[in-house]
Amino acid sequence: MPKKILITRVIPAIAEELLTQAGFEVTVWRGNQVMTKDELIEQLLPCHALLSLGSNKLDRAFFEACKHLEIVSQFAVGFDNIDVAAASEFKIPVCNTPDVLSEATADVAFGLMIAVSRKMFYNHKLILQGEWKQFEPLKNLGFELTGKTLGIFGLGRIGSIMAQRCTGAYGMKVIYHNRNRNLAAEKETGAHYVDFDTLLRESDVLSVHSALTAQTKNLFNKEAFAKMKNTAVFINTARGGVHNEIDLIEALQNQTIWGAGLDVTNPEPMHANNPLLHMPNVAVLPHIGSATVEARTGMARLAAENIISFYKTGKPHTPVNSGF
Ligand code: GLV
Repeated sequence: MPKKILITRVIPAIAEELLTQAGFEVTVWRGNQVMTKDELIEQLLPCHALLSLGSNKLDRAFFEACKHLEIVSQFAVGFDNIDVAAASEFKIPVCNTPDVLSEATADVAFGLMIAVSRKMFYNHKLILQGEWKQFEPLKNLGFELTGKTLGIFGLGRIGSIMAQRCTGAYGMKVIYHNRNRNLAAEKETGAHYVDFDTLLRESDVLSVHSALTAQTKNLFNKEAFAKMKNTAVFINTARGGVHNEIDLIEALQNQTIWGAGLDVTNPEPMHANNPLLHMPNVAVLPHIGSATVEARTGMARLAAENIISFYKTGKPHTPVNSGF
């Protein structure tokens, strides 16, 4: 009897192809909406494995209802939508898709940094509104990035690529803060470890690349923004929950910080009347960090290969819970 796999959205075809070639029976949920929890649980009744997306909330109640699952393989690097402790209790391995989307996500952080520093999104809006009348010697001036200090919160794979982009393009000095020092990344990028307050105080551009955890939730709040330079730009391409959006809006309105570039918001999707969308020094994107053909294909391939490897060898390639 072939093992049955449910994929919860249409993703690049390579996932279904690899799984089918490996002898699995694959069902793809073809709806355009995220499955409700009840739909998900019902569809999973006859299945052995789940290929999930970040939009599926896999909490304790989910795992209690689906303890028959043998593996959860997520099509994302982030897995804050999954109660990994509950999965571990039921001895279900959970996997993610690191590395394959790092270049794409770092590009979005890098692009947002430039877009904010030159008010690009705002200037584009002015053209659409018919406001491009003449050369303006003193209006809408941005600032230059050369020689500035980049602060990375979460120097892992994506943060390291962002650091390399910024040193290569602008000779930026790089400082970072992590829960634990990352000596390999320090060597690779030349980044210097600093405590959290120093990161806040010294960064001209502060870019978030950490996971959303109980420790990082709401970390960039009123108190944190108050410690930053009033010329600083805050960039978040990781998870919106790491910043407090009300506090961010206030910090920008009060000119506590200078600007912000967000690929992730809190909540998502952001409402079209959010004040952030109307601020000159802010650029917002709708969570497109991994939205390249290369990254999404790599994610689909790795998510499938995790399942195949698990059933072949007992070990998925990139588990996030220990013991697998
Ligand atoms: C995207 O946000 C991901 O976690 O892959």
